[in-house]
Amino acid sequence: MTTIDATPADGRTREGDAGPVLQARGLVKTYGHVVGLDGVDLELYRGEVLAIIGDNGAGKSTLVKCLTGAEIPDRGEVLVDGEPVHFKRPQDARAAGIETVYQTLAVAPSLDVAANLFLGREVRRKGVLGSVLRITDRSGMRDRARRELRELGISTLQDVTVPVENLSGGQRQAVAVARAAAFGSKVVVLDEPTAALGVRESGQVLELVRTLRDKGVPVIIISHNMPHVFEIADRIHIQRLGRRAATITPQTHTMTQAVAIMTGAADA
Ligand SMILES: Nc1ncnc2c1ncn2[C@@H]1O[C@H](COP(=O)(O)OP(=O)(O)O)[C@@H](O)[C@H]1O
Ligand SMILES: [Mg+2]
Repeated sequence: MTTIDATPADGRTREGDAGPVLQARGLVKTYGHVVGLDGVDLELYRGEVLAIIGDNGAGKSTLVKCLTGAEIPDRGEVLVDGEPVHFKRPQDARAAGIETVYQTLAVAPSLDVAANLFLGREVRRKGVLGSVLRITDRSGMRDRARRELRELGISTLQDVTVPVENLSGGQRQAVAVARAAAFGSKVVVLDEPTAALGVRESGQVLELVRTLRDKGVPVIIISHNMPHVFEIADRIHIQRLGRRAATITPQTHTMTQAVAIMTGAADA
């Protein structure tokens, strides 16, 4: 199967600073006898939304896990701004500005929306109360949470003091996506963020992805929803059987062609 490597959209070249922000080279990941990834390359450029599509089991989640420290690849390299990195856990990637919403959401159900937004990076009270007693600045975090949500255009979370366990699936998803969007300074990665959402909520997530791109934060989004993918993506990485079958664009290929490559019915 031919692998075409679509050229990034206008204004982005592969030279110097304009090289990939995040890159994978030859990633291999096996689980016992099961091959998750079989030598995968991926490039994410500044200012773009890169969609990853592929059938169930094609290796999409494994790929983003290897890119973001949730899994350690058996072989291959991950590079950030052209430099090899060795993330051992998601916190390492977060420290590098890469925020991920994994397919299995990581929210703390008993904590409220604001606390979830700041999970792992709690704001402490000023002075000894914070530095010695480690008391969190709850009202400060709530104010900031409200501000972040407003700036991100998320209207589905009206009250940041509600425990996350009282929210709908879609609202929980919104909390996870908001956290990634609020703190992802370099890259945001979303694994099936709209799978559990209604039409309006999906629309908000897609809008958020656009907002991030326009702020200069490139986004990787895994989705099964072809209309969403073709609406939002600048380029589309197609995974098939643990490999990259092709990278296409909504301009060069139709949805039908994308699905044909995904299922192996057609070459790129
Ligand atoms: N923790 C794991 N243990 C065993 N097999 C796994 C594990 N994670 C993924 N796999 C296998 O690796 C392959 C790729 O899975 P995954 O990346 O989740 O696919 P996708 O996200 O494209 O549906 C599948 O065959 C899956 O069963
Ligand atoms: Mg998956």
